[in-house]
Amino acid sequence: MAPLPLIAQKNAFQDALLSWYRVHQRKLPWRTAPSLYKTVVSEFMLQQTQVKTVLPYLARWVEVFPDFATLAAASEEQVVKNWEGLGYYTRARNLHKLAKALVALPAPPRTREAWLELPGIGPYTSAAITSISFGTPAAVVDGNVVRILTRLTADATPFRDSASASKALASLADALLNHDEPGDHNQAMMELGATVCHRQNPLCTVCPVLKFCAAGRTGEPEAYPRLAAKAIEQRAVSRAWCLHKGKLLLHRTAGDARRLANMHELPAAEHLGQAEAVFAKAELLAKKKRGITRFAITESIYTLAASSLPAESVKRPGLVWVAIEKLDTLTLSGPHRRWVTELLAKTR
Ligand code: ADE
Repeated sequence: MAPLPLIAQKNAFQDALLSWYRVHQRKLPWRTAPSLYKTVVSEFMLQQTQVKTVLPYLARWVEVFPDFATLAAASEEQVVKNWEGLGYYTRARNLHKLAKALVALPAPPRTREAWLELPGIGPYTSAAITSISFGTPAAVVDGNVVRILTRLTADATPFRDSASASKALASLADALLNHDEPGDHNQAMMELGATVCHRQNPLCTVCPVLKFCAAGRTGEPEAYPRLAAKAIEQRAVSRAWCLHKGKLLLHRTAGDARRLANMHELPAAEHLGQAEAVFAKAELLAKKKRGITRFAITESIYTLAASSLPAESVKRPGLVWVAIEKLDTLTLSGPHRRWVTELLAKTR
């Protein structure tokens, strides 16, 4: 279906979507007891992370930082520590900057344009926050919405990536937006994408907007959206597990680094200097696989005796010996907390 017939039926589409949402929405904390603060924090957390992962983090976050003022007054270290495990830490630093900017204003702005001027706010967050909190008519376009819109219209445009798809579909999303209830409309679109219009095996038989959906009718919803496959690059990383007199050797990234600032990891070969030869002789303790953006990374963790560390590595910047009982106070990046917990249990 080209967009036009859908637009002609937009009121019926909006009503079907909203009626479904009123009954079937998940009871989520930013919906049952909404506040601007909870909406902002949840929308930051929900970028790139699923609802079920976010829920325990959000609950703890609002206990530790109950409002923008508390968050603004916290140290960056505390903020990042409470984000530990959610990944994409720029979101935490941006949320912190945003809190500082908001408390410096007499009142939070209410328009999308004004929010776009604030740190860490982009097209998605500005639309989500202002529509949900202030009823501003701004349509959100996230990955869920891209999937729904391309299926509704059987849009077979090949998109380079999801950011360019979002841009291309913004005007259709705007045209379909329910101006009486923009916040609920946006949340209903995202909810439909998360719970019914799945990437694979979408539940078309229970879809409230099936009758408006060109791809649902042709029986090939999974063919949309057409996104170019990401070129996945394989990477191999060797890391040291070096435990000595109750202390674990970690690498702390410099505070002014673009990525992983002030975060700790098991040291990789590059952090130890001339370590390749040492790793070649060491015992493999664990092999871990993980994906980050377009990289498929295999991490090999080797047991190294402190005495086998290259002499020059001891002086290298960022290497720190941390007493096991102090580990909880540090921020470990990515899955390192899980690995360290698991390997401590295995080796002690
Ligand atoms: N994903 C991001 N924000 C969301 C929201 N408010 N409801 C459902 N899914 C979401």
